[in-house]
Amino acid sequence: MKAPYAVYVTKLGGPEVLQALPIDMPVAKPNEVVIAHTAIAVNFVDVYLRAGQPHSHNPDPPFIPGVSAVGRVVEVGAAVKDLVVGDIITYTNAGVGSYCTHVALPADRAIPVPPGISAERVAAGIVRALTSQYLLKQMYPFKAGDTVLIHAAAGGVGQILTQWAKRLGLRVIATAGSDKKVKIALELGADYAINYSTQDFVTEVKRITNNEGVCVVFDSVGKTTFDGSVACLAPKGLVINFGTASGQVEGFALQDLHARSLWVCRPTLRTYVAKRDDMLAMSVDAFEMLADPTVRLDIEAVLPLTQASEAHRLLEGRTTTGAIVLVPDVD
Ligand SMILES: NC(=O)c1ccc[n+]([C@@H]2O[C@H](COP(=O)([O-])OP(=O)(O)OC[C@H]3O[C@@H](n4cnc5c(N)ncnc54)[C@H](OP(=O)(O)O)[C@@H]3O)[C@@H](O)[C@H]2O)c1
Repeated sequence: MKAPYAVYVTKLGGPEVLQALPIDMPVAKPNEVVIAHTAIAVNFVDVYLRAGQPHSHNPDPPFIPGVSAVGRVVEVGAAVKDLVVGDIITYTNAGVGSYCTHVALPADRAIPVPPGISAERVAAGIVRALTSQYLLKQMYPFKAGDTVLIHAAAGGVGQILTQWAKRLGLRVIATAGSDKKVKIALELGADYAINYSTQDFVTEVKRITNNEGVCVVFDSVGKTTFDGSVACLAPKGLVINFGTASGQVEGFALQDLHARSLWVCRPTLRTYVAKRDDMLAMSVDAFEMLADPTVRLDIEAVLPLTQASEAHRLLEGRTTTGAIVLVPDVD
């Protein structure tokens, strides 16, 4: 397709509602830069918003989905001081849809990309690394040797989270939905990995921890795992429900936390990167992980942007390990 174009969610529904349509070339306002995308992230949140699953913000169709991408600055607004044409930047939660060839971006949301990391790896990893950063470094006072449970450990966030948790000296019990994914979780460094499609993960966690439970559960699956996650906690433990891949948690009774002084929370990266200084400080940590070639971040598929619907089918089909990246295909 001829640039510029964007993939729109034309109405709420399945992957088929994603449609590529021409757009006007964006023009930078004084505080904006225009970016030519080189790699576009596919995150699970894109699926929630396309399907109309209630989220912190649900745009009305038609809208351009996508929260993060990488690209080259091709135009700089008159008031922008710290970026020049040719800079390579990434962004997340910038208030723009990223499934497009070109976008006008508020310059204060741009994150400079250090040299030496491919656009595909940054697109695959930046949201997942920033998320892992706040989950591991800003939510709980971990000590080396603490035991945590990470659900969907072979997925996009799960891969970085598992490796980072090990680097912090935590003991990791992982779950994953197939034997192939269990193997990947172990390769990533998890101390134990449970196939929660065939095994009861609560029973397994209790067995592994001699009934003590874990101090923190990282639960991005939601509906099908949340009650079990709470049951896996040691006294004073925390469930961080940071995603709802299986659906939203419903009907949770706060009183269930009382007897063992448990706590639960439902954070979002959006809040943690809202302030530019916080976002840049977190990016330093995130790029340290992404720049390290020993950090594994599987890229399941690099697909043309016009095949965004196929990317969503793969992600929802639960067959993916690691990330999917879209690249603009232009005539
Ligand atoms: N709150 C935040 O700040 C934040 C930021 C970024 C991402 N997230 C969340 O983190 C999670 C991971 O995101 P990601 O983009 O990297 O996706 P992903 O991990 O690549 O894919 C989601 C995984 O969830 C598991 N899953 C369990 N039940 C599922 C179901 N019914 N349908 C589909 N998948 C199911 C699958 O792994 P198994 O087959 O192994 O179960 C699947 O691979 C998502 O829930 C996302 O919303 C949250």
